[in-house]
Amino acid sequence: MHISFQMSTFTFQSQGEIMTLADKIVKLKREKNAIILAHNYQRPEIQDIADYVGDSIELSRKAMEERKAKIIIFSAVDFMAESAAILNPDKKVLLPVLGARCPMAQMLTVDEIKRAKLQHPDAPVVLYVNTLAAAKALADVTCTSANAVEIVSSLKAGTVLFGPDRNLAEYVQRRTGKKVIPIPEWGFCPTHLLFQPEDVQVLKMQYPKAVVMAHPECTYEMQKTADFVGSTSQMCRFARETNAEMFVVGTEVGVLHRMKQENPSKKFILAYEGAVCPNMKLNTLERVYASLKEEKYLVSVPEPIASKARKALEKMFELR
Ligand code: 13P
Ligand code: SF4
Repeated sequence: MHISFQMSTFTFQSQGEIMTLADKIVKLKREKNAIILAHNYQRPEIQDIADYVGDSIELSRKAMEERKAKIIIFSAVDFMAESAAILNPDKKVLLPVLGARCPMAQMLTVDEIKRAKLQHPDAPVVLYVNTLAAAKALADVTCTSANAVEIVSSLKAGTVLFGPDRNLAEYVQRRTGKKVIPIPEWGFCPTHLLFQPEDVQVLKMQYPKAVVMAHPECTYEMQKTADFVGSTSQMCRFARETNAEMFVVGTEVGVLHRMKQENPSKKFILAYEGAVCPNMKLNTLERVYASLKEEKYLVSVPEPIASKARKALEKMFELR
């Protein structure tokens, strides 16, 4: 077999057959009865071979409901693959790169949650899915950016503990009118913090008709510049359903691939060109191939953490 290597156009020649790396992955995934779930922030070439591309709630639901496949390659970051393993423990859930970890999820420790619960014993704990399984095990319910407002609204309590993203906590407080106490005090996404309202103002001078979209992990100042605030897939839906021709996008660059594919005649500009999540981008086509071939890296969550975290995740699906 002759192998010629070129980043992303990796080709194989075997018995006269020329295959790209993408072709190889598609073939291997069929042979192994595997599916690839990819987050909206994944590289375009990964999105193109995925069985499903979506935001964190859509991917969790897909993973939970998957019946046929034996292997789920979760091309995203740690907490998303962990949720899949918790929700569908009979499947082999693989993360292509062990180091693909969301820094925001590391910001909320079990001790911090226990401390907050002691101070506010009557407040339910609502945790963003961007948390580690051990944290989810202490939550009453989880949420994503797509359903956080509905989840908190559906609870009887007037005060809730919410972590780890402070910007999302404040967004939920503004939308629900409830008291939302952030845990920890200053949890944040380093990628979404890169967006600045000044950049949007300049882009709006250049493209006055552009419609601005922002993720609720952006600062309030950035959210205020936006015509639409929502999860990554909610932004994709908004872009499809709105008549506007030009959009300024305040979330990670990966989502632009899907937006452009779904709306070939519309224009999409990133609100800040450096908005790249280095953790999401650790996944490459080469690593997805190796993951599928060698069936690594297995994501498993030990009991009793898995059962407790499952309850908090299932509660989210029940409420929303
Ligand atoms: P979404 O649920 O909107 O896809 O967000 C996930 C995430 O990690 C945002 O930074
Ligand atoms: Fe985590 Fe932010 Fe990357 Fe999302 S974009 S995975 S919140 S670091």
